[in-house]
Amino acid sequence: MRTDVVRLGRLSGERTGEMMHFLSSMRSDRCIADADILVDLAHVLMLEKQKIIDRDIAKQLLSALLELFDDGIPEEVFDDRFEDVHAGIESLLIESVGVDVGGRMHMGRSRNDEVATCIRIKLREEMLKQMSALLRVREVLVALAELHTGTVMPGFTHLQHAQPTTLAHHLLAYEQAFSRDFDRLKDAYVRVNQSPLGAAAFASTGYPINREFTASLLGFDGLVTNTMDAVATRDFALETLADISILMANISRLCEELVIWSTSFVKFIALDDAFCSTSSIMPQKKNPDTAEIMRAKSGSVFGAFAGALLTVKGLPMSYNRDLQELTPHIWRGMRDAKESLRLLIDMLSSASFDTERMKEEAGKGFSTATELADMLVRSYGLPFRTAHNIVGRAVQKGDLLLSTLEEAAHEVGEGISLISKGLTQQTIDEALDVHYSIALRKAPGGPAPFATRIAIEERKKQLDLDSQQIDQRLAKLSNAKEDLITKARRLVA
Ligand code: ARG
Repeated sequence: MRTDVVRLGRLSGERTGEMMHFLSSMRSDRCIADADILVDLAHVLMLEKQKIIDRDIAKQLLSALLELFDDGIPEEVFDDRFEDVHAGIESLLIESVGVDVGGRMHMGRSRNDEVATCIRIKLREEMLKQMSALLRVREVLVALAELHTGTVMPGFTHLQHAQPTTLAHHLLAYEQAFSRDFDRLKDAYVRVNQSPLGAAAFASTGYPINREFTASLLGFDGLVTNTMDAVATRDFALETLADISILMANISRLCEELVIWSTSFVKFIALDDAFCSTSSIMPQKKNPDTAEIMRAKSGSVFGAFAGALLTVKGLPMSYNRDLQELTPHIWRGMRDAKESLRLLIDMLSSASFDTERMKEEAGKGFSTATELADMLVRSYGLPFRTAHNIVGRAVQKGDLLLSTLEEAAHEVGEGISLISKGLTQQTIDEALDVHYSIALRKAPGGPAPFATRIAIEERKKQLDLDSQQIDQRLAKLSNAKEDLITKARRLVA
């Protein structure tokens, strides 16, 4: 039975299996196990470069670590007997190459800077995956918008018919929101990708270490300079969880609309059967379960964020073991968000939109009344509030016919006669026309096909830039990893 090398000297009391299971971070450490090997490799290369350990020792350590890199980490490392994966790997190493060699790996560092480094390495990868998935969702939305610049539909406020709009406009609104979600992750990444390594327990170390060297071997953009902050902070994770919480709120709103749009009284959309379930009793049912689960996953992600935030609240400097309980929230939140995004891509692209139904509803509920009021302002010089009042009264009377509007105008102001100003039923009908009303709304970002086509071109350019951004970061990480492994192999050879 392999012993936990960390506890050997100071502590004696036997721990029960229940205690060890309670205290170990092993379950969630599986997420950072591969990162830990990279951190070990970089640390040993640095110790050798700085002549803190002999070349011969470095060779033996590196060759044992490369074996784990090539063949995978054996299952025994993940035993609850070890407090964590760092202790597990070090114990395995000491057992395989002896304490005289294996016992030198942990010089000049602590598990405190080690774990913080591993979390950042894993998190930045997850962030890039998240950003790629977000990019694809945005691409789907823009592609759908391009198909539907001329598809009219009702726009809602308070879920009441408000003004007609286009499906392109509606879809582009979501793309814009997801684009900000992308930007937030992009910005947070800059702060995640900083190296805490070399901070050791918190006060750094007396060995002549080279923090910049390990940072660059591991693909970091810089250092978390203050060594106390480096081991104590998890704000990089809080920030990322906040960002994916906002993202999930956006996903949840979209899912809510998919649920509403697929009801039989709205019927704007039919989701592909694959994304729906039926009932065990009601044979006719087609339920939008995927959208519902996704809407609920947002709650789980907010919970992960809240859990992480509440873990750090009140922790004094610097490292406290409480931080171990924060880490699983990161992986759970990132996983739920990633899975949601990936399914959303296909759920959207496989859905069919009922453009006839949308058109049917577009002009309902007096939804072009604003345009009629605007026309009264433009053509007859009425103050907007007066025009608003007249049209509102006519709606209350039940229709927007010439005679009703005239009656409303009389009631609103002494001597206002729209007919004598030249208003005809034909001008009213023109103003109330859905397509006319939409075509007028061509200000930047508006629903008119003229405006949405410009927006689509602009969004495509942004998508290209964002995709380059991801590629650059991925390339930097994979080059650094390749370089790290090459350096280790060369030294061993
Ligand atoms: N498993 C620990 C964590 O996740 C690693 C650091 C342990 N440090 C310590 N002083 N016990 O935070």
